[in-house]
Amino acid sequence: MNNEYAISVKNVGKTYRSRDGQENTVLKGLDFHVGSGQFVSIVGQSGSGKTTLLKTISGLQEPTEGEILIKGREISAGLKDIAMVFQSPVLLPWRNNIDNVLLPLEFRNARTPESTAYAQELLEMVGLGGKAEQYSYELSGGMQQRVAICRALVSHPELLLMDEPFGALDAMTRDSMNFEIQRIWQRTGCSVLFVTHSISEAVWLGDRVVVVGDRPGRIVADITVDIPRPRAKEHKFSPAFSEYVTEIESHIGVTAAIS
Ligand SMILES: Nc1ncnc2c1ncn2[C@@H]1O[C@H](COP(=O)(O)OP(=O)(O)OP(=O)(O)O)[C@@H](O)[C@H]1O
Ligand SMILES: [Mg+2]
Repeated sequence: MNNEYAISVKNVGKTYRSRDGQENTVLKGLDFHVGSGQFVSIVGQSGSGKTTLLKTISGLQEPTEGEILIKGREISAGLKDIAMVFQSPVLLPWRNNIDNVLLPLEFRNARTPESTAYAQELLEMVGLGGKAEQYSYELSGGMQQRVAICRALVSHPELLLMDEPFGALDAMTRDSMNFEIQRIWQRTGCSVLFVTHSISEAVWLGDRVVVVGDRPGRIVADITVDIPRPRAKEHKFSPAFSEYVTEIESHIGVTAAIS
């Protein structure tokens, strides 16, 4: 039954057509499911179609072939349950942080004292409780991305789509954001689809790592990561962790260019 899955991607293809009639088939024959509450990482070379896949799952664009179901329903029926986080936080500079977090609810005319209290709670959860009244220019890049994550969570999404959310952060901030997102995911119980260029980030965070091959984008591997949770920094140095990374590198076609 589809209903047990947070996401069902069934034989999905996406072909872009340019104005002069040229066709570019970006995704072809994608077939996979995300179980309810699962954290699934997606990796693949640049241009393999990862963002296209997330946009298609979110309902921002339609697949050319196949079908996507969210909790067994067509996408249009589940949209309010989905939130997306992009590489850049895209906060509005003239609104303070809590007002940025509450923006999606204001669009729906759903800002209430309860939702404001929840926004404050989310900011506290990511260590920014004291910065609710400040503006994004007063925050570091990592803090801004945490506000963007709170904005995604404020509508209690059951499905969180993240497209390289930590790509612009330095290595140390990125590590602490990985802990943060693991904690948030475990606390909220939402299902997560997480696109990243970092294979170690994908393994450390994911219950599974789905590898997308390119031209056209298709699934070349779907690897279950059998490392206990909550995961600690030490897990990154275990032999099992290195084996997952090596296996995934071989599927992506990463060569040992770095000595
Ligand atoms: N709206 C669009 N119209 C036409 N072509 C597009 C569109 N969006 C993406 N493409 C093409 O689809 C292919 C896949 O793009 P996509 O952004 O999904 O890749 P990606 O895997 O997310 O890459 P990256 O890792 O660099 O972010 C590229 O060749 C891109 O030029
Ligand atoms: Mg992309």
